[in-house]
Amino acid sequence: MKSLEGKHIVLGITGGIAAYKSAVLLRLLIKRGAEVQVVMTPAAKEFITPVTLSTLSGKPVVSEFFTANTGEWHSHVDLGLWADLMVVAPATASTLGKMANGIADNMLVTTYLSAKEHVMVAPAMDLDMYASPSTQRNLATLASDGVEIIEAAEGELASHLVGKGRMAEPEAIVERVEQFFSRRHDMAGMKVAITVGPTYEKIDPVRFIGNYSSGKMGFALAEECASRGAEVIAIAGPVTNYPSNPSIRVLKVESAEEMNAEALKVCASADVSIFAAAVADYRPERVSDHKIKRENSEDMTIRLVRNPDIARNVAELKKDGQTLVGFALETDDALNNAERKLEKKNLDMMVLNSLEDKGAGFRTDTNKVTVITRDGFRKAFPLKSKKEVATDIVDMILELRKKQ
Ligand code: PMT
Repeated sequence: MKSLEGKHIVLGITGGIAAYKSAVLLRLLIKRGAEVQVVMTPAAKEFITPVTLSTLSGKPVVSEFFTANTGEWHSHVDLGLWADLMVVAPATASTLGKMANGIADNMLVTTYLSAKEHVMVAPAMDLDMYASPSTQRNLATLASDGVEIIEAAEGELASHLVGKGRMAEPEAIVERVEQFFSRRHDMAGMKVAITVGPTYEKIDPVRFIGNYSSGKMGFALAEECASRGAEVIAIAGPVTNYPSNPSIRVLKVESAEEMNAEALKVCASADVSIFAAAVADYRPERVSDHKIKRENSEDMTIRLVRNPDIARNVAELKKDGQTLVGFALETDDALNNAERKLEKKNLDMMVLNSLEDKGAGFRTDTNKVTVITRDGFRKAFPLKSKKEVATDIVDMILELRKKQ
């Protein structure tokens, strides 16, 4: 069977010189068995003709909202529902900006806004346009919206300048498309439990001890596992943003003790448990039932007692076939500390993120991680969006499970 047999792909083409490569991309997708609907921006037609693309795809190209002579309406909503994947290649700076900001003034962007499934973009433009803060801001927005960015390559550009801005080669784009579909069901039948976000430890009715976790890393993992077919239950501390995939069950908790109680229940039957939450190690020994008043003295003392170690408690009850993955958030001597935690908590894998790395850790849309396993294996990844980091971590978890 061909690798893309039965897959519905919308190929979005925008107005840049790299549009000529889209014909090759289209042909490669078709040869692998995909059904492809081309959607072009009006500017793209200046670079490649709809006749070429409709001949290769075997379908009329969609470009306008209406067919001029018949008044027939092209439904971007139907296209968005039909597609298993949308690939915009080449994606110009203008289209990236419109996609990032919801400017729905053409068929391609309205289709993107209606797309229910995964979207990839392959940017192509001159090096200065690619490097400009505005383009990079739009790419970061799209990445945090879950769009997969197929980075531009270095090389000679249409301006004859040499630098980063060339569209990735059609073969490389097809490889990403194949990877996407091969990952899509590789967690089918698995149950995944994930702790997410911070915990709040009450001091009195108006104050608590907490931390900066936003839940972005934990929910990126939840989205990744759900998109790969797993049943996902997230046990989340107080956060403001939740996953968009409605199949993800979120159990809302506040304190470490509440998170511990839910995790013990959920993780008992989970194939994979991931501890991405930043759990407070201590809580106030006594919670005041009224607001603590300012005293005359200059200082005050709150006595703290140790919270349950959730990951360790779950590990104590671990059954055969279960995989337990922790995160280590470090500020110094990162690798050694992460290794120590992996042993001490009796986990199978530790994902180290260090606050020494710019763009890593709390609240950011990016992270930089090193994955460590019990057999001494270490793999360091570059700075990526939390969505891409989640893909890498899940790939590593599935690799590890093959050996378990
Ligand atoms: O939520 P974001 O803003 O996206 O930030 C993501 C993150 C930085 C919070 C995340 O990537 C991360 O590193 N989470 C773990 C933070 C942490 O508490 O690390 P730790 O080194 O203190 O704990 C080690 C492991 O034990 C973690 O898996 C933690 O969830 C777990 N733990 C810790 C203490 C405790 N009482 N119970 C636990 O289960």
